[in-house]
Amino acid sequence: PAPGWSIEADVVVVGSGVAGLTAALRCAAAGRRTVVVTKARLDDGSTRWAQGGIAAALGDGDTPEQHLADTLVAGAGLCDEAAVRTLVTEGPDAVHRLIRSGARFDTAPGGDEIALTREGGHHRRRIAHAGGDATGAEISRALVEAVRAAGLRTIENALVLDLLTDADGRTSGVTLHVMGEGQHDGVGAVHAPAVVLATGGMGQVFSATTNPAVSTGDGVALALRAGAEVSDLEFVQFHPTVLYLGPEAEGQQPLISEAVRGEGAHLVDADGTRFMAGQHELAELAPRDIVAKAIMRRAHEQGVEHMYLDGRHFGAQMWETRFPTILAACRGHGIDPVTEPIPVAPAAHYASGGVRTDLRGRTTVPGLYACGEVACTGVHGANRLASNSLLEGLVFAERIAADLTEGPAPDPAPDSAGDRAPASAPRTTLPLLAPESRTAVQRIMSAGAGVLRSAESLARAAAELDRIHREATRASAGTAHKSPEPGVEAWEATNLLCVARVLVAAAQRRAETRGCHWREDHPDRDDASWRRHFRITLDADRA
Ligand code: SIN
Repeated sequence: PAPGWSIEADVVVVGSGVAGLTAALRCAAAGRRTVVVTKARLDDGSTRWAQGGIAAALGDGDTPEQHLADTLVAGAGLCDEAAVRTLVTEGPDAVHRLIRSGARFDTAPGGDEIALTREGGHHRRRIAHAGGDATGAEISRALVEAVRAAGLRTIENALVLDLLTDADGRTSGVTLHVMGEGQHDGVGAVHAPAVVLATGGMGQVFSATTNPAVSTGDGVALALRAGAEVSDLEFVQFHPTVLYLGPEAEGQQPLISEAVRGEGAHLVDADGTRFMAGQHELAELAPRDIVAKAIMRRAHEQGVEHMYLDGRHFGAQMWETRFPTILAACRGHGIDPVTEPIPVAPAAHYASGGVRTDLRGRTTVPGLYACGEVACTGVHGANRLASNSLLEGLVFAERIAADLTEGPAPDPAPDSAGDRAPASAPRTTLPLLAPESRTAVQRIMSAGAGVLRSAESLARAAAELDRIHREATRASAGTAHKSPEPGVEAWEATNLLCVARVLVAAAQRRAETRGCHWREDHPDRDDASWRRHFRITLDADRA
């Protein structure tokens, strides 16, 4: 639809988690006219739900080199070492700057040193946390307050539709749909020479996920439509310990942080027997792909749907002080971790891949940047190390802001739309999908492209997704069913189908098991053939 209104900026940041707000604050502090656009409210994205914490070499005796080594091992041969080195060396200072911005982390008893815990794949206590298990909520609170205090222009309840580009193919802004009552209701545009995508993940592409309802792959879909390259979409991380609420459970599921295992809880099977010892030297604290696979394998052997996490030995006081969020979530579902083991199973958690960027956060489209979960900076490889995601958002958002603000401020943009060179539509448009198709896409993906994949399951998923795409194409051409009304739910469903099809195509192609991509028909890692990335664009993809 044609924009009905427009505003001008130097930088438009899409998304309001740790990555988006950090980039926006730094750009604004350097004098750039910065607009933050977010699909729901400022604190509604995934950052708020992060529990365990933020990893950085902050403890005595720990070093960025050790953090690098653990990250590379988890990434199963596909991390970009330069990107990881950037993350781990710039990480500690970035965390201290976050603290200076107002975030309050838990401190060790009787002192003011940051308390550090362990999570899977970390050989050291390296995870800073806040409010016990509410780290993301505290980071979000601090950043939202900083944004409000700085008087940044924000547009909430606004779904970004497409990237605008000028005649040279450079980014010139975004179109967006603002929902609900307000000054900017309806479809409009923010014109800016730089767009920072920080839209988070795509967990909603699966039936059961730890991600909130807003995580519908919007940024990856937008970037694909604009001709940007994406990479590593096949590497979806399934968090091993998500509260199991039955086979029919759909949508966002309660996370049981790895920090619960970091503090000594055990995974036990249906007979109450520990099964991680002997699987990996770190037992319950092995990298999460290994733990997720072990849970699935043991559940299959026993003919059950889930395993248990036993933290009864913590006692009531530790549960109440260290894990208040998890305790409340479990009790809300009738399970008391103080007196009984928690039923757990893996669920979709994190997109290790995304829009490909360089170390300054630049994508392959000039003027388009990406950071946080939507991006593929190369730090996660085939499997993200626990608690590296908040850190990645922080470090690479700062690098984007530095790239955008070094040198003189850009010339002021013209005030009226009439003074500007015409902006063009995205390179690829997709047929609009009916909102009801969202559930169908999720079920297809969970059945065919979940924790366990095979050529057969993926081919089935691809065929079913193609059928939905064909029907939507016929509907939009007016040759079959009526096309759906444009609206946020229809656009979200369209984005989900777009990323699902690309994800499945990548997973079909990767005929090996590596990191969080588990192919039952190719159970081994095959470095000779597959130690490489697929760089995908919507109309062509190349290895
Ligand atoms: C958790 O608390 O287990 C989640 C941490 C993460 O995903 O990095």
